Amino acid sequence: MIVVTGATGNIGRPLVEALTTAGEKVVAVSRGDAAFPDGVLHRKADLADTATLKSAFEGGGKLFLLTIDPELDHAPILEAAAAAGIGHVVLVSSERVVTRPTPALEAFERAVTDSGLEWTILRPGGFASNSLLWAESVRKERKVLAPFGDVGLPVIDPRDIAHVAAAALTGDGHAGKAYLLTGPALITPRRQAEAIAAAIGEPVQFVEQRRAEAYAQLARFWPDHVVEDTLDIIGNPNAAEQEISGDVERVLGRPAAAFADWAQRNAAAFR
Ligand SMILES: NC(=O)c1ccc[n+]([C@@H]2O[C@H](COP(=O)([O-])OP(=O)(O)OC[C@H]3O[C@@H](n4cnc5c(N)ncnc54)[C@H](OP(=O)(O)O)[C@@H]3O)[C@@H](O)[C@H]2O)c1
Repeated sequence: MIVVTGATGNIGRPLVEALTTAGEKVVAVSRGDAAFPDGVLHRKADLADTATLKSAFEGGGKLFLLTIDPELDHAPILEAAAAAGIGHVVLVSSERVVTRPTPALEAFERAVTDSGLEWTILRPGGFASNSLLWAESVRKERKVLAPFGDVGLPVIDPRDIAHVAAAALTGDGHAGKAYLLTGPALITPRRQAEAIAAAIGEPVQFVEQRRAEAYAQLARFWPDHVVEDTLDIIGNPNAAEQEISGDVERVLGRPAAAFADWAQRNAAAFR
């Protein structure tokens, strides 16, 4: 049985679907009420509250672990997994562990690599789904407001992260591996807006924000240090952050999906 945390999220939803389609027994973990495909067992738990994890992980053989907060001490989560008999954990980390390492980020991955369990680490770059932040202004005004309109990054479709996770959870040869996960090409926010316009079949205006405007907007959702780090990466990426990785294709045997594919599949959010 495979335990999937973050099961209602951008990665979790397509992962649960991929695993059930492959005939795996799945336990979907999230904090609130949620609906899942037939046959999926839903258990409520809070990763920040270790007491809730024993019952969430019970009977699991493998664990998909979505990072909620890299600053959170992950050792108790791994201890709960080991106590439940889980043998392999697939962790969603971030490319930042490599491109902009900090002691906290490194310690967070070490909780997994030192856990005594088999592990696979996924290090994605920025997600295509981050553009859902624009959904409301596209729906209401047909506008994308974003900073750094002409800086390209190889954003990744979260469904590809899910499919790599599914491969690592169900196939052989992934233990002890860390995969860098990016999209197939650099794409700028301006080009993302064009792809969204094409997906909804309507013109969408791109309005370039100043950094301070973007800061004020993002700070409504994220802690200040996360906003700072994110703006540093999207405004002034280093060479490693603009590198296109072949790991999605190496694991899945097909290229990573383009942003335009993600936009087509998620067009309803922008209509
Ligand atoms: N966005 C990026 O560009 C980017 C880049 C690199 C890495 N990442 C990593 O990817 C993660 C986001 O993945 P995502 O987009 O799939 O997530 P998401 O769509 O934001 O969903 C978060 C999921 O985690 C669950 N959750 C949140 N807090 C929880 C808690 N305390 N205990 C248990 N479950 C909890 C949520 O369910 P409930 O709310 O129902 O509990 C939901 O299923 C981030 O944490 C980040 O570390 C993101």
